[in-house]
Amino acid sequence: MEDFKTVAASQTTLTELMIPAYSNFGGKIHGGIIMGLMDKVAYACAAKHAGAYCVTASVDTIDFLAPVEVGELVSLMASVNYVGKTSLVIGIKVISENVTTQHVKHTNTSYLTMVAMDEHRNTLPVPGLILQTDEEVRRFYQAYHRKELKKYYKTEEKRMKSVYEIAESEELLKNERCIIQRKS
Ligand SMILES: CC(C)(COP(=O)(O)OP(=O)(O)OC[C@H]1O[C@@H](n2cnc3c(N)ncnc32)[C@H](O)[C@@H]1OP(=O)(O)O)[C@@H](O)C(=O)NCCC(=O)NCCS
Repeated sequence: MEDFKTVAASQTTLTELMIPAYSNFGGKIHGGIIMGLMDKVAYACAAKHAGAYCVTASVDTIDFLAPVEVGELVSLMASVNYVGKTSLVIGIKVISENVTTQHVKHTNTSYLTMVAMDEHRNTLPVPGLILQTDEEVRRFYQAYHRKELKKYYKTEEKRMKSVYEIAESEELLKNERCIIQRKS
C-alpha cells in the first residue's frame, strides 16, 4: 500500500535569538538571516516527511511585514502544505517575540518547494499527505492553486518575451519613471 504521513508528523519549529552580529547598518536584522533560517527549517520539515535528503527547488515571494530587532526571539513554524510526486511545498510562518515584553509580531509567511533526492541525486517519490483538519485541507488546496498560477505565469512570461515589440514597450514606458537615452 502507498505510504501516507500526517502533517503533524513532520511539523518543525526553529527558534533563534537575534544577536547583534545578525544586524544590518540600520540596526535591524538582515533579511538574509531570516531567509537562511527559513531554508533550514524547510529542509528539516521536508526531510522528515520524505525520509530523505531534500533540495530547495523554489522560494515563493517573501514579504517582510515588520522589521526584526536585535534581542528578539524569532520562531519559524514549518509544515508540509502540499505534496506532488517528488516535491513538497513547505509553508513557513515567522514570528518575532520581544523577550522582555513578550510582545509577538508576525514578520513573514512564505512557501518553499523542496524536492526529495536519493543517494545518487535522482529525484525520489515522497509519501502522500493525510489531511486531518480544515486548515490542512485549505493549505493543500491553496498550494495546489499557487502551483497552477505559477504554471500560468511562466507560460505568460514566455509568450511576453516572444512577442516583445520595441515601439509598443516604449509607448508603455512613457508613463513610467525612466528616460530612454540610447548611446547607439
Ligand atoms: C530541483 C531539481 C532537483 C529538479 O530537477 P528536475 O530535473 O527539474 O526534476 P523534475 O523535472 O523531475 O522535477 C521534480 C519535481 O520538482 C518540481 N520542480 C522542479 N523545479 C521546480 C521549481 N522551480 N519550482 C517548483 N517545483 C519544481 C517538479 O514540478 C517535480 O515535482 P513532482 O515530482 O512533485 O511533480 C533540480 O533542478 C536541482 O537539483 N536544482 C538545484 C537544487 C539546489 O541545489 N538547491 C539549493 C539552491 S542553493
